[in-house]
Amino acid sequence: MKLDKIPETMLITLWAKAEEHHYNPPFLVDKKAEEMLPLIDYDFSKFSRSKFSQAGVCLRASLIDKETQTFLSIHPDAVVIQLGAGLDARYERLGCPEVTHWYELDLPEVIQLRKDFFQENDKRSFIALSLFDMEWVEQIKAHNKPILILIEGVLMYFDPEEVKAFFLSLCQRLPKATVLFDMLAYSLVGHAKNHDSLSTMDKKQRPEFKWSERDSHTLEQWHPALHVEREYFMSDYNQGRYPFIFRMLYKIPYFYKRFNQRVVVLGISN
Ligand SMILES: C[S@@+](CC[C@H](N)C(=O)[O-])C[C@H]1O[C@@H](n2cnc3c(N)ncnc32)[C@H](O)[C@@H]1O
Repeated sequence: MKLDKIPETMLITLWAKAEEHHYNPPFLVDKKAEEMLPLIDYDFSKFSRSKFSQAGVCLRASLIDKETQTFLSIHPDAVVIQLGAGLDARYERLGCPEVTHWYELDLPEVIQLRKDFFQENDKRSFIALSLFDMEWVEQIKAHNKPILILIEGVLMYFDPEEVKAFFLSLCQRLPKATVLFDMLAYSLVGHAKNHDSLSTMDKKQRPEFKWSERDSHTLEQWHPALHVEREYFMSDYNQGRYPFIFRMLYKIPYFYKRFNQRVVVLGISN
């Protein structure tokens, strides 16, 4: 199957999670990614030098796993939706949680591939739709339960206006929800070609990094319902896995703020 630009990036995150078993202690254990990787006809060897991305993807996923677990411990009856799920196996990593419902949404070509590896059940469904097609909101709202929206490795590929309109649309449609997402290092906007894993992709196939904010609190100015509840600067949790030069540079406040990827817990409360 030929994948479009942004969908192809899900193979980077899949590769990163499958590789993580080489590290002790690992950021996460993802048996499903390890199983899937050899079954996909793609030259993953080109990522072998993308050590920074590999650690970053797994650290990001592990922070989002932990935040999801925290949310589910408070709201065991939640409805969870992963937007741009790709081939991510969070549902399996978290032991198939007994929530009200767990949804995974991605573009139709990706959901088609996803169905080769994952199974739906009475509490887990796939949605073949663009995240900007807000039909999915009505589906999750209909359960009338606490809502958790996960968006990982996705928003950075869209124009700032599209991202802002997306959050405003959520505020208009949802009285209350929690959105857990990552924000690209601000200084990487416009520099996909310098990124250690995206730079290995064919130039015509490589998507650009388009969105990040220097300060996540900017989102609070977009709509009064938006509140940053927590934010993780990922370098704080890297356990010595980031390259030495970056670990040194992160000690400088200017660099720390602009070159750090972040995981943000955003509340919507109307
Ligand atoms: C870097 S991958 C991340 C996959 C997954 N979240 C993970 O962390 O492994 C980006 C994902 O965004 C998806 N995507 C791109 N445009 C999308 C859209 N308009 N609506 C929903 N998903 C989209 C791609 O198909 C791909 O699966």
